[in-house]
Amino acid sequence: MLSIVVITYILLIQQPYQTYQLETIEAALASTVELSCSVGQNIEPTSPAKIIWIRDDRADIVSLDSVITVRDRRLSILTMTSIDREERILRITNVEEQDHGLYRCIRGDITLNEILLDVLIPPRITSHAPEDMRMIVREGKDARFSCTATGRPTPTIVWQVNGLSRPTLVTTIAGTNESVLILRNVSRFDSGRVDCSATNTLSTVNRQFLLDVKYRPTVTVPFHWSYFRVNDSPTITCLACSSPPPTTFDFFRPKHANPITKGIKDKFDEVLNQTCRQLTITLHLSDTSLFGAYVCRAKNIAGISHAEFIIKELIQSTKHMKSISEEHALTPTSIIITTSSSTVTKNDEPSERHIEYSYKSNTVATGIIAEKNQAFQLSTSLLLLIVLLFVASRC
Ligand SMILES: *[C@@H]1O[C@H](CO)[C@@H](O)[C@H](O)[C@H]1NC(C)=O
Ligand SMILES: *[C@@H]1O[C@H](CO)[C@@H](O)[C@H](O)[C@H]1NC(C)=O
Ligand SMILES: *[C@@H]1O[C@H](CO)[C@@H](O)[C@H](O)[C@H]1NC(C)=O
Repeated sequence: MLSIVVITYILLIQQPYQTYQLETIEAALASTVELSCSVGQNIEPTSPAKIIWIRDDRADIVSLDSVITVRDRRLSILTMTSIDREERILRITNVEEQDHGLYRCIRGDITLNEILLDVLIPPRITSHAPEDMRMIVREGKDARFSCTATGRPTPTIVWQVNGLSRPTLVTTIAGTNESVLILRNVSRFDSGRVDCSATNTLSTVNRQFLLDVKYRPTVTVPFHWSYFRVNDSPTITCLACSSPPPTTFDFFRPKHANPITKGIKDKFDEVLNQTCRQLTITLHLSDTSLFGAYVCRAKNIAGISHAEFIIKELIQSTKHMKSISEEHALTPTSIIITTSSSTVTKNDEPSERHIEYSYKSNTVATGIIAEKNQAFQLSTSLLLLIVLLFVASRC
């Protein structure tokens, strides 16, 4: 009742002059602040009016002279009176968020002081998506994350993908405090951590999401084609990596639905790690029907892939041919292939495409071997010379 009367009174009065400037005081949560208000005794020595503290936004009279008029034990008035000055300091301990606002100290019809109490609030992430902090997405699709933060001053939100900044992908939704990160066309290398962090002058808080990118298998075989003789027992290793790990994983003949069974001498399936599986077979090429094209095929929920290789029959036992096939078995050009080469004689299966580099890499490898041979010959001669010198010195 009293407060209404006082507020009306204040509103009705035109202030003749201002003796103050609006002041802003920043206070952290739980801290203590003192809002000062003083008046010179001799300015209006006859004024009987009391010094009053008012909270403008709530229209609360907080104090009348040195008495607190609201029920809040955190508030107190520090009174200081000297010959020429009177002070009524409003003291707020354990500052709370709702203490934020405009405080006005008046006496009679004069505003003595006006203070904006700015309660600083550490950033807080109030919501985030996905809620369970886990995002599972297929390679090539988009992944969307969001964080909403509050605090005073308003926090800024920064995103990181596996510790790297990706500022261009971030948008803030207008009118809200929600920041959205959209990762377009995610790759398997984006798998890992996505962090949002909200920072203001007080502190930083963050949320960590887990991004799990699913991708179809990558299948590799050690050669595209190689020569063997009847009754040889080649060992072929196929590696398939995917997320989740491959479910179906086996050797097939092209266009056959069932894995090969004929000619298998030995078979060994190995889980290498979380993403890779390795399948090793040893074939016994007991008859010519076992020569030809094979595929290693792997499948998971994200898709299916295969790599083809051809076991060619070596008929003429020329040294040149042997060296080619061995080189091919050794060259580390075991990349993902879905095609086969048809460079040399006796083409068992119609191939889909022609790969030029397989022949080139072979030429390079031969060149290196020639160089190595020269070096070997040189060192042998040197050794012989040393031995001869040694023998000579002995005699
Ligand atoms: C955004 O945050 C600021 C500061 O925390 C807050 O005052 C404001 O109400 C928020 N806006 C919305 C739409 O939530
Ligand atoms: C998606 O990324 C891959 C490489 O990671 C790229 O080859 C492909 O072109 C991209 N697709 C689109 C639609 O941007
Ligand atoms: C799994 O093993 C393969 C083959 O040894 C390797 O290339 C790959 O980097 C490994 N992946 C992980 C996640 O360790």
